Amino acid sequence: MARRTKVYEGKAKILYEGPEPGTYIQYFKDDATAFNAEKRDVIDGKGVLNNRLSEYFMVGLNTIGVPTHFIRRVNMREQLVRVVDMIPLEVVVRNIAAGSISKRLGIEEGTQLPRPIIEFYYKDDALGDPLVSEDHILAFGWATHQDLDDMVGLAARVNDFLSGVMTGVGIKLVDFKIEIGRIYEGDFQRLVVADEISPDSCRLWDAKTGQKLDKDVFRRDLGNLSEAYTEVARRLGVMPGNS
Ligand code: C5P
Repeated sequence: MARRTKVYEGKAKILYEGPEPGTYIQYFKDDATAFNAEKRDVIDGKGVLNNRLSEYFMVGLNTIGVPTHFIRRVNMREQLVRVVDMIPLEVVVRNIAAGSISKRLGIEEGTQLPRPIIEFYYKDDALGDPLVSEDHILAFGWATHQDLDDMVGLAARVNDFLSGVMTGVGIKLVDFKIEIGRIYEGDFQRLVVADEISPDSCRLWDAKTGQKLDKDVFRRDLGNLSEAYTEVARRLGVMPGNS
């Protein structure tokens, strides 16, 4: 058996070199962390659920013409993805106030926002991923004007898609985070949705009861996280089987 080359290990995922040039294997761990890894636990089966759910969302996005890094799921915990040049930003889209925007601006959780609000956070664990302005992004060269336009466009399309899918299964998409990377094609670059889309990176509330079906269950000790994620998967018809 040959050892695989680990390219990167994050809090919830590992990237290995892929079978062909320009590919990675993205492995989903069971580790859950919150508050910049101050709170941590291992949640049996979380990686399997997130691998399946992220596959489901990325395939859906690819189908409607929103480019992603996703190629195919390989097994219960792994997917084949394209190597991208990650932009060091987290792009957050909010439809309903919750979490940090509620704290920062004193808006009661659950308040419908006047329109979707897009925010950028600089990816830096040591700094706790601070909120940054478009001017910071341009001045420090993390992205260009064109990139910003493209990122806002991608974020809005992901929001439309995810909101629609979730509404269809009785879930409100409160907010979510995506990460975006560059793929170079000759003289051109294309921005694609990368990393993952899962209940780890979204806030999902049951439309009738308001029950939280996302990582806030872990962050706020509200119950069993894998039961919450399993409920999302069940409603979407994405039950992790044995393949
Ligand atoms: O904490 P905050 O309210 O800013 O989070 C907004 C959204 O972004 C939430 O859905 C949260 O799960 C997600 N997020 C994330 N990774 C981070 C920060 C936030 O997935 N590092």
